[in-house]
Amino acid sequence: SIPKAVALLGIGRSNLRLVAVDDQFRMRPDALQAAIAADRAAGRNPIAIVATVGTIVSGAIDPLPEIADVAGREDLWLHVDGAYGVLAALALPERLNSLALADSLSLDAHKWLYQPLDCGCLLHRHPDIARKTFSHSDDYVGLLSQDPTEGFAFFEESFELSRRFRALKLWLSLQYHGRRAFRDAIAEDLRHARLLAEAVEAHPELELLAPVALSAVCCRHRAKDNRAILRRVNARGRVYLSNATVRDQFALRACFVNHRTTDGNVLEIVSEVIAAAGEVND
Ligand SMILES: Cc1ncc(COP(=O)(O)O)c(C=O)c1O
Repeated sequence: SIPKAVALLGIGRSNLRLVAVDDQFRMRPDALQAAIAADRAAGRNPIAIVATVGTIVSGAIDPLPEIADVAGREDLWLHVDGAYGVLAALALPERLNSLALADSLSLDAHKWLYQPLDCGCLLHRHPDIARKTFSHSDDYVGLLSQDPTEGFAFFEESFELSRRFRALKLWLSLQYHGRRAFRDAIAEDLRHARLLAEAVEAHPELELLAPVALSAVCCRHRAKDNRAILRRVNARGRVYLSNATVRDQFALRACFVNHRTTDGNVLEIVSEVIAAAGEVND
């Protein structure tokens, strides 16, 4: 999504810098600092840092306090891509309190708030900047209101103009179930990921490929063709796995973002992978 965003903004994909990660797939603040210094030395003008809370493959969480320090020192905007992972803050507030350091934060209620597609959300701290960017002109008072004291219309703070009432389903389910139900369901998803990781580690034929930071688990069969295993697992139709590449290895990836998943479903992943491996030739 970030290369697409820079292309859309007219910055150009070639001006996006990918920053090296540590052994747990978290952005390295020293590498970030070095990338900024290299660009400045080459006469380029860095404008923003995008950190991730919950990377797609492994769920890694970038070190926000250190990254925010760099952003503060270098006078750069700090955006946090929390599309998948940021809602874990409901269940793990102490681990994610540094989210408050972001200038803007994206999250997908259609991922870890269990909503039907689509329900993406952008939170930002500087509505004045958004309005300046998306309004027709500085003194534009809005189509809905000719009275400047009444404030801006929502379509003057983002790309879209006409749009569906996407927030309704989220508002309704938060009202109906209450915040605690979401927090408990997310805590269960996190527990399910740990349960799977433990089951994988306990099985001699399987290995974990990345630390489990949130609810994504990447693993592989040690001996068999994991691509073929994935096809067999999904064809068997009992559980559904996606795939990823972790340090050049093909990974079987499970990601728990469903409030109906049971411990039995989780453990069935292991038995299904082993059964599928039995159907795959050496
Ligand atoms: C970390 C992260 N960022 C961005 C996206 C893109 O979100 P969307 O598909 O809602 O545009 C995803 C998942 O799709 C994601 O996991």
